Amino acid sequence: MLDQEMSIQEIEQWLRETDQTRISRLWNRADSVRRQAVGNEVHLRGLLEISNYCVRRCTYCGLNRNNSGLQRYRMTREEILACVDQIVDYGYGTVVMQAGEDYGIETEWLAGIIEQIKASTSLAVTLSLGERPLEDLKRWRQAGADRYLLRLETSDRALYRCIHPNLSDQPSDRIKILGQLKELGYETGSGVMIGIPGQTYQSLARDIDLFRRFDLDMVGVGPYIENPRVPLGAGQVCSPAIDPADQVPNTEELTYRVIALTRIVCPEANIPSTTALATINRDDGREKGLCRGANVVMPNVTPVDYRKQYEIYPGKACLHETAEACQSCLAARIASIGRSIGKGPGSRMHINHI
Ligand code: 5AD
Ligand code: FES
Repeated sequence: MLDQEMSIQEIEQWLRETDQTRISRLWNRADSVRRQAVGNEVHLRGLLEISNYCVRRCTYCGLNRNNSGLQRYRMTREEILACVDQIVDYGYGTVVMQAGEDYGIETEWLAGIIEQIKASTSLAVTLSLGERPLEDLKRWRQAGADRYLLRLETSDRALYRCIHPNLSDQPSDRIKILGQLKELGYETGSGVMIGIPGQTYQSLARDIDLFRRFDLDMVGVGPYIENPRVPLGAGQVCSPAIDPADQVPNTEELTYRVIALTRIVCPEANIPSTTALATINRDDGREKGLCRGANVVMPNVTPVDYRKQYEIYPGKACLHETAEACQSCLAARIASIGRSIGKGPGSRMHINHI
């Protein structure tokens, strides 16, 4: 069975499938669900990495506060608004402001910037700023923010605890925050990394089921990429050890499988073909993602000098490209697969049935 109601066991079987004919069926089904549910338009979201400060010590992520190898920056209001003007000029419908969990991004300061963007442009505003308190999320929603991205990284609790240390005494509960975001009326996005050491096929199948049960508006997934400057990339082992046959590989192939299965179980979701995917296949990773279920790309608009410091993992695609270079690169890639660039904000569409 390959439809919206498929069971967790069936999802796991598809993740483990080795028969090429059946795998081709998966790609075809995902592509046709994508076409019927969200159409041929590829929506572009201008990604602005506004700060690389972070209070957390996620063991997979280069922004980890213990990583002294990064020069930290926080963009000014003027710098942000100048990039927003560029996003408008390029015709993108959304600005995504992303950062580490940085409390130097003050609630009111950012609210003022959101208000300014909403008053002077027709852009949708997406935030991706970590596990901020409810009060901040409320204030920014009131200021006009439309969407919020907070990845679960993995729904395996023990693995999550191991790779995502708590802040002092406060347990991290991203499911709870995702619920708050929905309640506040944000379009809510989440996602996971694929191939984290210790991640099993079964837990990945559960992640995909969770996207469905949560009825997420956006789902972003990408391969886990080792960063030797932080503990997980330097060999941290999360016990208990799992059977090697159950370990999900952090490959391109598995990433496409997750994109395709997510599209099938969440037909209406906006699903990006991510930079991490483009990093492990620079030739045509983005295009393949778009042909196997994805319908969004997030061109980076961060000024190049800052972009180099936003090093979540090494070898990130587009690290040295200007915003302009990414714009023409992506336009060509989208045209090469016969798709068109979306107009307007590209919000989640609600359909009755497909
Ligand atoms: N490899 C791949 N993705 C990563 N992220 C963080 N570190 C890595 C890594 N080493 C992803 C996380 C985070 C998003 C912004 O980047 O999923 O939520
Ligand atoms: Fe940045 Fe291709 S998307 S160079």
